[in-house]
Amino acid sequence: MNRHPVVKIGLLGLGTVGSGVVKMLENHPEALLERSGNDVEITKILVRDLDKQRAVDVPRERLTQNVAEIIQDPEIDIIIEVMGGEEETKQIVLAALEQGKHVVTANKDLIALHGAELSRIAEENGVELHYEAAVAGAIPILRALRQSMAADQIVEVMGIVNGTTNYILSKMTGEGASYDEVLAEAQMLGYAEADPYADVSGLDAARKMAILASIAFHRPVALADVAIQGIEKITQEKIAAARAQGGVIKLIGRAQRVGADVLVSVGPMVLSNDHPLALVNDSYNAVHVRGEALGEAMFYGRGAGMMPTASAVVGDLLAVLRSPQMAQGHAELRLAGVLR
Ligand SMILES: NC(=O)c1ccc[n+]([C@@H]2O[C@H](COP(=O)([O-])OP(=O)(O)OC[C@H]3O[C@@H](n4cnc5c(N)ncnc54)[C@H](OP(=O)(O)O)[C@@H]3O)[C@@H](O)[C@H]2O)c1
Repeated sequence: MNRHPVVKIGLLGLGTVGSGVVKMLENHPEALLERSGNDVEITKILVRDLDKQRAVDVPRERLTQNVAEIIQDPEIDIIIEVMGGEEETKQIVLAALEQGKHVVTANKDLIALHGAELSRIAEENGVELHYEAAVAGAIPILRALRQSMAADQIVEVMGIVNGTTNYILSKMTGEGASYDEVLAEAQMLGYAEADPYADVSGLDAARKMAILASIAFHRPVALADVAIQGIEKITQEKIAAARAQGGVIKLIGRAQRVGADVLVSVGPMVLSNDHPLALVNDSYNAVHVRGEALGEAMFYGRGAGMMPTASAVVGDLLAVLRSPQMAQGHAELRLAGVLR
């Protein structure tokens, strides 16, 4: 008899990212088993509309509009939150953590505003909270800062962490088109939202920089502490002036250690053409880190999209499955004779 532990998962949201997570688990069901020793099964999925056409086939009886059916299900150990939203979602995630469930989320709005509180509640309840996908999508920068670079003194983190604005600025630079023209094209191609405010104002990048700075500098950085400027006022004249100086305009998030303080800002910056971030174009993201011992390192990749984002979410799921808390739960089941 197969007596691998089957870990039950509740998925909140079956849109772009949620569908990617389902696809990844369907495409490589053996991967998590091999790498964690657990089978996983998504047993319930929260959606708004039960009848909507989905990018993946899931049994209809797994869908629910009632979040309590998931949060209060004692068989569900892990919640994957990919529904988006702030206040209502915060209450849901808090309730899940307080019920002793591990949480993986891709929600930068939630983590930038409430990450410190949610991390504290997770710790108090002995459960894991992971949010790698919330910053720069597929790029594993949070785990690298938390683990591989944890011993170093980070001096500066600079990032292109919003794909929409990088796409707009790349097109304006490469094709000489105006901001309004490129924005309209980006909206038509689905690279920019119908309401592009959060992207073009720099707010989305600021949320990600608040999260990045908190982890890089080991202290809470609030969104309100980030100085924000958007790209709405970038013109062809400014791009030409940057070019004449041997540079290019990028929307840069920057977090620097200055004495005892950490200064965080988002805004258009002229980067010299030989800066590693100057070469990051289209909708790609990149994060450039300077550390006392490390020197320089750069992380480059897809900042959004169904499968890139799902890869970060499922990576976090694997981290939960490998966590001491999960292992302890299984050890108790083995002692009780339920598992081999
Ligand atoms: N898309 C990306 O590339 C990307 C990248 C990084 C991070 N993220 C983050 O990942 C999260 C999800 O993004 P997404 O693009 O996948 O969003 P999305 O396509 O709009 O999907 C959201 C899903 O959540 C469900 N949902 C939302 N509010 C709900 C509610 N109150 N009750 C029940 N169901 C609800 C929706 O149900 P219906 O389908 O029934 O409407 C939908 O299935 C967001 O926090 C986003 O910031 C996204």
